[in-house]
Amino acid sequence: MTYILGIETSCDETGVAVYHPDRGLVADVLHSQVKLHAAYGGVVPELASRDHARRLPALVHQALESAAITPTDLGGVAYTAGPGLLGALLVGATFGRSLAWALDIPALAVHHMEAHLLAPLLGSKPPAFPFVALLVSGGHTQLVLVRALGDYTILGESIDDAAGEAFDKTAKLMDLGYPGGPRLAAMAVDGDPSRFSFPRPMTDRPGLDFSFSGLKTHALTTIRRLEPLSEQDRRDIARAFEEAVVDTLHIKCRRALEQTGAEALVMAGGVAANQRLRERLATLRGVTVHYPPMNLCTDNGAMIAWAGYLRLRAGERSGLAVETRARWPISELRAPCREPEDA
Ligand code: KG4
Ligand code: ZN
Repeated sequence: MTYILGIETSCDETGVAVYHPDRGLVADVLHSQVKLHAAYGGVVPELASRDHARRLPALVHQALESAAITPTDLGGVAYTAGPGLLGALLVGATFGRSLAWALDIPALAVHHMEAHLLAPLLGSKPPAFPFVALLVSGGHTQLVLVRALGDYTILGESIDDAAGEAFDKTAKLMDLGYPGGPRLAAMAVDGDPSRFSFPRPMTDRPGLDFSFSGLKTHALTTIRRLEPLSEQDRRDIARAFEEAVVDTLHIKCRRALEQTGAEALVMAGGVAANQRLRERLATLRGVTVHYPPMNLCTDNGAMIAWAGYLRLRAGERSGLAVETRARWPISELRAPCREPEDA
């Protein structure tokens, strides 16, 4: 197995990377669409797709150049096939599948959340199986028991908003703009944690599911009561909100670890970039907590190249059809299987 090209276009970041089993990550380039969507206060799917189409070819060139290789050095192409915005996914999947066909090399359709989940294994001290993964992104909040590559049991998940979505919506309520999560987190640093007390949803009953939409409503009620908001009000609300999310995630992670007996916790997804969450989870006793570096937490091509490499190495191949799925539960994934190529 030689160089694997990874392509990510599931949402608002165009990411391209090259992974080599001996040399590691030899290229990792990214174009963020933050500026493009900022005026609209959120991701506009059609603009996202068009921008991916505009940027992707140049980014692939750039990645190959920075890896100092040519397309013929590639041994496989991995692309995000879902879950995500359908139009955006189609850009990367069509490009990736076609490139692999043109070069006559294997292609692999990658599950975006599996890639997030496997990203911490790219580090120097990878966790051993089995481990519990906390997947916290803009679209997902899940606790997953990972027994092996492709062996995933969902222990709990959000019954409404994802953690990142709750961050983004609460940030919007306070006019913090887009992308809300990191901005709210930055405001929270100087907030007074004792001024407001937000609920810790679903922690007073057994189980590992989450619910975050009530926190957003709680924030709204607090905002209405105080309006017009001062800068300090914003900081204090941000802090109370962040504490509530972090505390809730902490409680459920502890429970999941107790329930499964797993000795390692892996954090993945955009919200794993949250400093306060990292600090709190680091206090869990008797377990090692693994998180990818910041740039591998949010969307990127490196995790796609890596996840693709792991499955390609095991002999898995995707067919010639360009298949994308807006919704794709991670529990449907299976261990890598050797499939006859229809090429
Ligand atoms: O994994 P990701 O880049 O994209 C998805 O697959 O959804 O996650 C993006 C989410 C957004 O909701 C963003 O607000 C949130 O991650 N996020 C954060 C932080 N950085 C990104 N949330 C809280 N604190 C942060 N520092
Ligand atoms: Zn993501």
